[in-house]
Amino acid sequence: MKALILAGGRGSRLRPLTHTTAKQLIPVANKPIICFVLEQVSKAGIKDIGIIVSPETGGSIKEALGDGSRWGAALSYIHQETPGGLAHAVKTARHFLGDSYFLMFLGDNLIQGGVGSLVGDFHAGGGRSIIQLKKVKDPRQFGVAVLGPGQEVLKLVEKPKEPPSDLALVGIYLFSPAVHDAIDRIKPSWRGELEITDAIQEMVESGCRVEARVLEGWWLDTGKKDDILEANRVVLDEYAARQVDGQVDAFSEVAGRVNIASGVVITNSIIRGPAVIGENAVVKDSFIGPYTAIGKGTVLERVGVEHSVVLENCRLSDVERVEDSLIGCNTRVGRSGAKRRACRLFVGDDSDITL
Ligand code: TTP
Repeated sequence: MKALILAGGRGSRLRPLTHTTAKQLIPVANKPIICFVLEQVSKAGIKDIGIIVSPETGGSIKEALGDGSRWGAALSYIHQETPGGLAHAVKTARHFLGDSYFLMFLGDNLIQGGVGSLVGDFHAGGGRSIIQLKKVKDPRQFGVAVLGPGQEVLKLVEKPKEPPSDLALVGIYLFSPAVHDAIDRIKPSWRGELEITDAIQEMVESGCRVEARVLEGWWLDTGKKDDILEANRVVLDEYAARQVDGQVDAFSEVAGRVNIASGVVITNSIIRGPAVIGENAVVKDSFIGPYTAIGKGTVLERVGVEHSVVLENCRLSDVERVEDSLIGCNTRVGRSGAKRRACRLFVGDDSDITL
């Protein structure tokens, strides 16, 4: 059994961060989301893993993940020249996949509890394809499934205006090699992509049984800014543990599950968990509230920050309250001494600022 992790794509909804970073490498609780995916895949016992990468971000993904030995796995990088859709990614990986049964996992998705039981069900079912679903409030923005009485898939519809059910496709699939023939038979959709929903629909129509499992726990799809903040909140809530390796002076207070990495210096500040502060960060005369991740080497002085993700090597000073914010690497936010209340901005393309 193999796994295929999709880490290509455009990442257009996460610009400007994705002008310089692969979205799968954006950290949640200070760890790239794709590292959580690799942990889950490896824990399910799959060690032969292909990673789909794009020409723009493939190098940085390779650099971050290496050969996979950290997860006891062997990683093969597969180049997808253009983001032609999820089924196009499978087609691109045909050589790597051969006739293996495989788990396909979107590199920016995560589910509670991992994929071990799903993979177990797949083996028990003799390798019949399975898709993972989740009940959602507004199914119109997802691929939606209609199931029969035995949990088998009857029909899939991509982003329906009138959803036939509230069961959305989560980015995790288990496929038999029959999926390749189905992909060979489908045509690009109106948006010019080879859609995996069309391939699964094609399998169903040609008489292949595809089963579904409905996820009870959380599902995180980190495609947009608010999704990253939500993922950060959920992951900190579930995994943050109190560990203080850095220095905290006597005038500071650290409450709850706060992870303070080595080399961090905290003076005259209050930190309330769950929160994580990366190596060599400096926090002075500041307040860090729950659900916040501060990246390596970032400096905060006279700042209040809560429910936010601040990436590496930023410098924030004299800002009373930063909330619900996602701040890219090497960013500076400060206050001028002038009396005039004016904003001076030097902001990259596709930024989003609320004052
Ligand atoms: P999406 O989030 O659906 O697409 P995207 O990354 O292009 O993002 P946006 O819509 O914001 O432009 O992709 C889901 C995952 O699959 C993500 O990890 C990227 C990956 N992917 C590929 O590897 N190849 C592809 O052709 C596509 C479309 C996505």
